[in-house]
Amino acid sequence: MFYLDKLPFFKHFLVLLLLTHLAFTSAPLEERLLEMLGIPGPPKGRPVFSRNEVSQYMLELYAQSERVLGRGVATAVRSYNSLPTSGDMLSENRWQFLFSMTDLTLSEKVVQGHLRVFKPKGTKGRETPYRVSIFHEVDKEDLKGSIGAKHYYSSPYNSSVALRILDTLTLETRQSHWCSFDIAEAIRFHQERNIETMRLHVYAMPENATDILPGSRGIRFVKSRGKQVQLQPSIVIYTDDGSYDTLRNSDARLARQSEQSKYDPSKTYCQRKPLYVDFNRLGWDWIIGPTGFDAYMCQGDCPFPYSGKLKITNHAYLQSAMGSIHSGVPKPCCAPTALSPITLMYLVNNGVIMREYKEMKVEECGCA
Ligand SMILES: *[C@@H]1O[C@H](CO)[C@@H](O)[C@H](O)[C@H]1NC(C)=O
Ligand SMILES: *[C@@H]1O[C@H](CO)[C@@H](O)[C@H](O)[C@H]1NC(C)=O
Repeated sequence: MFYLDKLPFFKHFLVLLLLTHLAFTSAPLEERLLEMLGIPGPPKGRPVFSRNEVSQYMLELYAQSERVLGRGVATAVRSYNSLPTSGDMLSENRWQFLFSMTDLTLSEKVVQGHLRVFKPKGTKGRETPYRVSIFHEVDKEDLKGSIGAKHYYSSPYNSSVALRILDTLTLETRQSHWCSFDIAEAIRFHQERNIETMRLHVYAMPENATDILPGSRGIRFVKSRGKQVQLQPSIVIYTDDGSYDTLRNSDARLARQSEQSKYDPSKTYCQRKPLYVDFNRLGWDWIIGPTGFDAYMCQGDCPFPYSGKLKITNHAYLQSAMGSIHSGVPKPCCAPTALSPITLMYLVNNGVIMREYKEMKVEECGCA
């Protein structure tokens, strides 16, 4: 019926299609739509990652998405919370954090990657600075034939694994705060080899060798799945797939405001009309934001000869002219002539993704 695969553009059209079928709640069509838009469905993995686990950090990034996502910066930001067994203390000064990255494809370039862990206030003693380092632990098996192998050395704790130091910070014991470590190289390692689970080790050593080891009093880190849902360790990954859409909402609006007048219900010519897509009504409750958006639609006549404020493509002129000579040539249609992206944030297994989706919103209608 619909050759969805053959349509490389006008995703907006698909949204319209879904809306017209809403009344029937046609499940297969909804699945096809999500597939076409490239939005995964509701997360299926265990444990289920819930709305209230989305960090304040990600919500703030989403609120500033226009600034965060951009050409040469990133086209998507992901955040994965650590797996349930994470944060376990391996020894007095060593912790292990595990992450699973299920939605990272090779076509996306990893621009930045951070480990974020929360360090609560140290309870006793005087201010003691600690050197805290992040290590990437991999099976030696996975290093074979790898150009990055030279950065890894054999682990003193287990002869079948290798370690690489990623980043080091000096932390004080007295204050509580978030710590952010650069782990981009580890993320690239997993992305290139398609290894889902990432093991990161946190080591803390007192700067002054005579000071006590951290675990006994100084430094601790909040574990995964504790009561403090908002303080869970997470990794944040910025990626760029090179597809940044230059037509931003605000730019487009400014550029086109003067060209096309506002929707006027009394007019029958081709123009942009309101159409609100409500994600809640679609049952897409795994989408954190927005809850819906103005997608708009194009409707109206494309009379020939053209007049007034109608936007007409050159091709539409040609087609109209040919149509007046040959009866088999149809009239041009009222269709979007400019579309803009929207930024969605949605839940995935163990995390959340913020990404720009192109061609979701009509900026301008015309006869084409
Ligand atoms: C050593 O590492 C291997 C590979 O990751 C693992 O299967 C094994 O359980 C580890 N041994 C110990 C004692 O932790
Ligand atoms: C290290 O700690 C000891 C004992 O608290 C102290 O005497 C010494 O001055 C410290 N050294 C440095 C470099 O801070």
